[in-house]
Amino acid sequence: MLILGIESSCDETGVALYETGAVAGNPAGRLLSHALYSQVQMHQAYGGVVPELASRDHVRRTVPLLRKVLAESGKSLADVDAIAYTQGPGLAGALLVGSAFAEGLAASLGLPVVPLHHLEGHLLSPLLSARPPVIPFVALLVSGGHSQLMRVSGIGRYELLGETLDDAAGEAFDKTAKLLGLPYPGGAALSELAERGRPGVVSLPRPMLNSGDLNFSFSGLKTAVLVKVQELGGLDDQQRADVARAFQDAIVEVLVKKSMRAVKATGFRQLVVAGGVGANRELRRQLDAKAAKAGVEVFYPEFEFCTDNGAMIALAGALRFQAGLSIKPAGSFAVRPRWPLADLQGA
Ligand code: KG4
Ligand code: ZN
Repeated sequence: MLILGIESSCDETGVALYETGAVAGNPAGRLLSHALYSQVQMHQAYGGVVPELASRDHVRRTVPLLRKVLAESGKSLADVDAIAYTQGPGLAGALLVGSAFAEGLAASLGLPVVPLHHLEGHLLSPLLSARPPVIPFVALLVSGGHSQLMRVSGIGRYELLGETLDDAAGEAFDKTAKLLGLPYPGGAALSELAERGRPGVVSLPRPMLNSGDLNFSFSGLKTAVLVKVQELGGLDDQQRADVARAFQDAIVEVLVKKSMRAVKATGFRQLVVAGGVGANRELRRQLDAKAAKAGVEVFYPEFEFCTDNGAMIALAGALRFQAGLSIKPAGSFAVRPRWPLADLQGA
């Protein structure tokens, strides 16, 4: 079965073709081709995503990207068996573009559709790796909009173990980066700057480290950085790097501690890290070290599939399609800009 996946929830347009494996329920299929267009440069001038510009750009990019994945895979639309697309959560206008395109294309081809939860795509993205995890596992989802720990017991069986009470981890990275004068989205740039920072020179709090639950809170950390920057006055390059280092060390310590606690609570031996912040090298170093000591295996998506992409949507669509979940005739649809992942339970 050939599944076409379309992602347009925020500022990346992604299109991909995934071929399911021969055995139902076995993810061992194959990503045939994928293409991505990132709007980051366009939004940089505004210091963040401008929703209306995002929607209009998705309109421009979707068809060329589709042509590209078809050409690269040597397939035609006649070979496609179902179309999966991101139904939510995300920016309403951006979601509408991908959803309307997918539904319209499927209706014209007489194909079924598989509307998907964006975070399910992130959650399952490590299954695209050469060394994939095997369900069940604990997932740490850390993106620009979400920070959650989930118990993953099967396709569509996701239980929320803990989440952020305020800012998402990626959001905290981006806001702190902005404070330090780095361009949007600052996560990756901040972590590069942190590599040159000296450990322990600047001290910052570890919010909710010992709260006894699996929740996070990152907005206070961002405020603590602001206070620190004001205290220090004009920062020189080394001081900026030291502050970046302190921020990254604090956030990584909390993420690692809570993730390991979640693994322990479930008794699972596998931890999956997904979402844009999963690309953070310090987070990977610290998690790998702690997990190795505890006999836990950690799985990450390939770097290119950490941030938004069409491949994870095509994969999640393929797994749902094989499991007979969420398949519906094309034609009518509604996007879901706000949509808790735990609502998928059993759906
Ligand atoms: O998963 P994603 O593409 O978007 C959402 O679905 O939200 O994640 C984007 C987030 C941004 O906040 C970005 O700054 C952050 O991931 N990010 C990073 C790194 N690379 C991307 N944060 C920390 N370190 C990185 N290396
Ligand atoms: Zn995302």
